[in-house]
Amino acid sequence: MKIAILGAGGFLGRRVAERLAAAGTLGGRAITGMTLFDIAAPPAPAAPFPVATIGGDVAELPEAAIPTGTEVVFHLAAVVSGAAEADYDLGRRVNLRGTDAVIDACRRLVAAGGKAPRVVFTSSIASFSGGQDAMLGDDAKQMPANSYGAQKAAAELLLSDATRRGFMDAVSLRLPTIIVRTGRPNKAASSFFSSIVREPLLGLPTELPVPDGFRVWVGSPNSAVSWLIHAAAMDTASMGLDRSLNLPGLSVTVGQIIGALDQVRQGASAMVERKPDPVIAGIVGGWPAGFTAERARALGFTPNEGLVELVRAFVAEDLEPTRRERELG
Ligand SMILES: NC(=O)c1ccc[n+]([C@@H]2O[C@H](COP(=O)([O-])OP(=O)(O)OC[C@H]3O[C@@H](n4cnc5c(N)ncnc54)[C@H](O)[C@@H]3O)[C@@H](O)[C@H]2O)c1
Repeated sequence: MKIAILGAGGFLGRRVAERLAAAGTLGGRAITGMTLFDIAAPPAPAAPFPVATIGGDVAELPEAAIPTGTEVVFHLAAVVSGAAEADYDLGRRVNLRGTDAVIDACRRLVAAGGKAPRVVFTSSIASFSGGQDAMLGDDAKQMPANSYGAQKAAAELLLSDATRRGFMDAVSLRLPTIIVRTGRPNKAASSFFSSIVREPLLGLPTELPVPDGFRVWVGSPNSAVSWLIHAAAMDTASMGLDRSLNLPGLSVTVGQIIGALDQVRQGASAMVERKPDPVIAGIVGGWPAGFTAERARALGFTPNEGLVELVRAFVAEDLEPTRRERELG
């Protein structure tokens, strides 16, 4: 089975590539090749199969990014929430036209006599609104309050239609806010949900722009990768026209995240400074803080691990690599 990962140089794309390379199989079948695509050619993990790496723009997707015979495409290439809000043209180009280019690439594979590939797309809970009191069921209406969410929702619809037309077999995963993000703070409005754990563990101060009682829907990087891989191999026959899923994340308060941090490293939260930021609070405050995610559970998506386990996994797997990457000695 050949696999392509678009956005393979990013936080989650790298992990998907690494997990698949380590497993050597997907859904019980041997992986025979993997193509990794990002703006700059992404790093290739050691793998028991050939790995090609390609740099380029997803909106001008080169044919080699999804080569003939590809059966699974992970489409993660995106401009994240804060950046897409700050630069409308860039967000629309990458998040919407990039997805259009993926559809065209899959159409070409099918027109050349190939099988419609499984496309696993990373949508976002930012495609919804409803705010702190919302607990959304699987049939909740997407009503994005930012351009990123609108682009993700539009991309979901286009992928569902491309599936109906037989160009692909798409599954769109509306990922929760993934914590703890490695590396540096990024341009996502949700960046601070990771910073309040990562920075104190690195011995660095960080700011909390919302009150401790602020509620958020989160998932871990390990769960996100497991969900993506499950979506790549699962039976989609029962999904019908609706190709999008809310996932079984965790509804937690910022205070609970900080509590988990202190449970893993006593006193670490002293590095978190309360500094209200109405702009950030305005963006993340519109996102719903809870989902029932019944459909995903019924389709075999495993619920996220607990907060303390999530923080422990960051310490065990990502703290030292992050320290090295940031040259913190
Ligand atoms: N991390 C989260 O909390 C979260 C939550 C919801 C949804 N998502 C979605 O999951 C996916 C992966 O998220 P992530 O956290 O790994 O983000 P990321 O920013 O680390 O990775 C995205 C990758 O896309 C690449 N990219 C951007 N523009 C491109 C272009 N024009 N051509 C080719 N590649 C381009 C970037 O270089 C980057 O490596 C994204 O689609 C994101 O919108 C993430």
